[in-house]
Amino acid sequence: MDNTNGDIALAIFRTPELEDKENSAARLRIETLGASIDRVASEAADRAEVLHGLAQPQKTLPAKYFYDARGSQLFEEICGLPEYYPTRAEAWILDRYAVEVADATGPCGLVELGSGSSTKTRALLDADRNLGGALRYVPIDVSRTILTESAKQLLRDYPTLEVRGAVATYDRALAALSFKFAPTDLPSRMLVFLGSSLGNLTLEECDRFFGQVRGFLDAGEYFLLGVDLHKSTAQLDAAYNDSRGVTAAFNLNMLAHLNRRFGADFDRANFQHRAFYNEGDRQIEMHLRCLHSHEVQLGDRRFAFTEGETIRTEISRKFDVDAVRAQLDRYDLEPVNIWRDPQGWFASILSRRRVR
Ligand code: AVI
Repeated sequence: MDNTNGDIALAIFRTPELEDKENSAARLRIETLGASIDRVASEAADRAEVLHGLAQPQKTLPAKYFYDARGSQLFEEICGLPEYYPTRAEAWILDRYAVEVADATGPCGLVELGSGSSTKTRALLDADRNLGGALRYVPIDVSRTILTESAKQLLRDYPTLEVRGAVATYDRALAALSFKFAPTDLPSRMLVFLGSSLGNLTLEECDRFFGQVRGFLDAGEYFLLGVDLHKSTAQLDAAYNDSRGVTAAFNLNMLAHLNRRFGADFDRANFQHRAFYNEGDRQIEMHLRCLHSHEVQLGDRRFAFTEGETIRTEISRKFDVDAVRAQLDRYDLEPVNIWRDPQGWFASILSRRRVR
């Protein structure tokens, strides 16, 4: 009798919502790469990188410091702005051509660098699901908050999906993440790098990045890359100087992040957002312009800022498809197909790690 009551109590306690939750939790793993022994070393390296950038004649700060929880939220807002065309253009391409991508690759697990909200990835997951193989996704992002929230949402929407996320920079993920899907489950992987984040790397960083991609992928595996293409200066300037000031808030938020992370004392009120298209270098440049001469303390270092001088916080290079294709090829990434939006603003390039 007691037993029966116990069963009833248990049955009432385990609501469908709870079962859903448990089922989702079993399909989710998130790890922080480099969180153990090398944590102290990597903190020191990050600090040294920031100090080095601030000591240059053109002060610079690494763009990765945009992405704390607030910055990631602001970036999601940017993606929905009327002036910021890249997200819509790429989403159009993926919605339209994800089936062609899946047909070209066959069933494969997705590994996404800088996954953010994973919104555009859904088209790829949908196409994969239609192929009937196992659904596996490895999102990688520097923000644990956005990574966890998006993963939970995906698990609710894709009942057979398994997510193994990593909190890491691209660099660390490509170097340290040796994750392979069980070959019986999925024969191959597709590394996905959307949003033209490639444009935020300098030419040298880009070369290093492609080298890491080559090292990460096994022969025959795939790389899907989104690139923002050359276009008019007016359109580019508008995309990075939106009328609602969201990009300005995104840029200035980096200072709050640095204050928290490194105990600096930047005062946002002393800086102003500035973004322009550098036609010579074919790149958008985002800067923080100093409004009054003052000093900033970071640890035991003080940095003098003069009125009008800037800190460069980001470059966003714009691309030519043929040049990217040739560069991929130099890194043993053989182009398979290229898709563009109807305006020719954005391109998605699928390549395959050459079998030697
Ligand atoms: C993430 N990255 C591709 C964006 C870009 O357009 O370069 C970051 C961004 N910066 C300002 N607006 C958006």
